[in-house]
Amino acid sequence: MASPLAKPTLLISRSLPDQAIARARSRADVDLHKGDKPLGKADLIARLKGCQGLVCLITDAIDSQVLDACPDLKVVSNVAVGFNNIDVAAATKRGVVVTNTPDVLTETTADFAWTLLMATARRVVEADRYVREGKFTQWEFMVLLGGDVSGKTLGIIGFGRIGRAMARRALGFDMRVLYQDAVAADSAAERELKATRSDTATLLRESDFVTIHTPLLPETRHLINAESLKTMKKTAYLVNASRGPVVDEAALVQALKEGWIAGAGLDVFEEEPKVHPGLLDLPNAVLAPHIASASSETRVKMATLAVDNCLAVLEGTTPPTPVNPEVLQKR
Ligand code: DGY
Repeated sequence: MASPLAKPTLLISRSLPDQAIARARSRADVDLHKGDKPLGKADLIARLKGCQGLVCLITDAIDSQVLDACPDLKVVSNVAVGFNNIDVAAATKRGVVVTNTPDVLTETTADFAWTLLMATARRVVEADRYVREGKFTQWEFMVLLGGDVSGKTLGIIGFGRIGRAMARRALGFDMRVLYQDAVAADSAAERELKATRSDTATLLRESDFVTIHTPLLPETRHLINAESLKTMKKTAYLVNASRGPVVDEAALVQALKEGWIAGAGLDVFEEEPKVHPGLLDLPNAVLAPHIASASSETRVKMATLAVDNCLAVLEGTTPPTPVNPEVLQKR
């Protein structure tokens, strides 16, 4: 039996900022996977066996097979706000606490989603390419015309922290804001953000920009599909910085090719790291490798919060941001 004074044991599944690793090492025996690829399932299980804590990334699939193989595990601490890589129901059933990293990445993620929105509407990537390819040989009046942002209608799908942070940015652009969410925001928030709740069909029909900030759930998979894309304005832009499978990527390729909508800014893809080959040839798609929360400061905050969540559970205190708090009540 482990001595009551022994440090808890935990696996960190990929390299994180040094500060976060040092923090974990000061209070636990840490096994750190330093490789530049995620551990495969068999290796992950082999390394995790006997550990009480796991600090992992969205590239680690934590399912019932992993949980069953690692009965000492007490906490799975995801370094992300989204946790669709973890079977939370299976963890809850086994008394394993799951935690995530909300709040610390809200503004950074919204900054990047806004960047995609602007870059797509104002054709920044195409413009950059135009200059580098030596095409800027004389000033042209009718070259690289984009869409206006100021004064337009922004439709926000998912009105949680990041969706609301987008609405706050829209205030500075005098935009009309529609939002769709299963839960209505309170009237004070709606007033402050000048946002009106709408059904999905109206939002898609009336918005000049549709930005997605909903978690990936069975009911949000392919929420944006051929049918919904066809109801959007031909001049509208789609931004996705949530999870790829919320959008049917093949339908989006067709929509962008055939001009059902004007453009798309995508930070996430249906089968990451694969990108639908049709997207790669499209000038009206701005593509990024899932980096919306990737600022140096925010990565440190995310990793530190994840380590704190993990250590709190292992030390018998309350983790700051649990996903399944009902497990804590049973301890
Ligand atoms: C998140 O936090 O869910 C991001 O997608 C990964 O950083």
